[in-house]
Amino acid sequence: MTNTPSQSTSSSSDSPFTLSPSFVPQFHYPDRLLVGPGPSNVDPIVLSTMSRPLLGHLDPDFLHLMSMTQDMLRHLYRTDYPLTIPISATGMAGMECCFVNLIEPGDTVIVCCNGFFSQRMVDIATRAGAKVITFQRPWGEVFEENDLNAIEEILKKEKPKALGIVHAETSTGACQPLDRLGKLCHQYGTLLIVDAVTSLGCIPLEVKKWEIDAVYSCSQKGLSCPPGLSPVSFSPRAEEVMAGRKTKVQSWYLDLTMIRQYWNSDRAYHHTAPITMIFALFEGLRLIFTQGLENRWEMHQKNHLALKAGLEAIGLEYQANPKYQLPQLNVVKIPIGIEDLKFRKTLLNEYRMEIGGGLGEFKGKVWRIGLMGCNSNPAIVSKILSNMEQCLISQGKAIPK
Ligand SMILES: Cc1ncc(COP(=O)(O)O)c(C=O)c1O
Repeated sequence: MTNTPSQSTSSSSDSPFTLSPSFVPQFHYPDRLLVGPGPSNVDPIVLSTMSRPLLGHLDPDFLHLMSMTQDMLRHLYRTDYPLTIPISATGMAGMECCFVNLIEPGDTVIVCCNGFFSQRMVDIATRAGAKVITFQRPWGEVFEENDLNAIEEILKKEKPKALGIVHAETSTGACQPLDRLGKLCHQYGTLLIVDAVTSLGCIPLEVKKWEIDAVYSCSQKGLSCPPGLSPVSFSPRAEEVMAGRKTKVQSWYLDLTMIRQYWNSDRAYHHTAPITMIFALFEGLRLIFTQGLENRWEMHQKNHLALKAGLEAIGLEYQANPKYQLPQLNVVKIPIGIEDLKFRKTLLNEYRMEIGGGLGEFKGKVWRIGLMGCNSNPAIVSKILSNMEQCLISQGKAIPK
């Protein structure tokens, strides 16, 4: 008799789903230099910590580790906001967490749009039921001093609940100045939500001084950990807004009123924490503060300048205005005559090095080269430059003498 799935029994070896030991797949785990927009390579110390034995998610030793991790995250964000937690999911969950906890159906939200990720804020805020108004700049540009008047006009007229903006726009390589926006938003009772996915740990980010109300990031870029966590931090002002909600947060998993009860002294079960990822985050943070956060920012800047000099010497032109260029993400224009996909495939297959292609409007037009966290070092700068040069020559590009 042939078993159909509904007839199969747990003991039957003639189930159509039986996987014979000789067909169990194997995988050779290749080693790559990950110098795209992220994920970036994981620090070897973090990786080795991840092989430590698991702890229970309510084990007192693990709870102690959680508290120390939160404390370091506050230092990293340069704030003392009590509600600072790594969400158990990637950066997009951090984005969603900020919007769904602060926004209720019918609220007005302004999104400053100048790239791929601000567009995602629009989508998420719209799904949360907000009336979304976008303030646009062309891709690759940032909102400058002289845009603040126009932003103020919108704030005055619309009195939005929140304004969303991206600090380090990964699709364009541009760094958004943020130091005056929080104060401006607060004059009109608006909360400031900031995407720090590509900025945290790489460039100055002053959450409290810049009066940011909700900020989210990721683990796989500046923190030299694998993807899987999204540190978020909420100001007391944002907490007040959450406390005054009339409707329940639309997402059960991302509802901070429940998640915080696991991270604060209640220690109430919400979901099983990704324990090994918290080990990784703790070690990643420890490495940053052992080096010193300011030294870390300086290191990113120094290695960026070396990379920039080398990339320009082989004829590659930067996309972003030099005044706003991110050090941790170098976006360069693809030279005429070079085929984007063929070039990146050759880099991956022959040089074991991954760089990123363009997103959205910049698809096929730019390459994105990251120097993030432990990957920001002189040896990796040299390796990128020599691989890029050889690969360009092999594909027919004349290199300036
Ligand atoms: C600026 C920005 N925001 C959000 C995200 C989404 O993060 P994740 O892919 O970790 O979900 C990314 C990813 O690269 C990003 O660069």
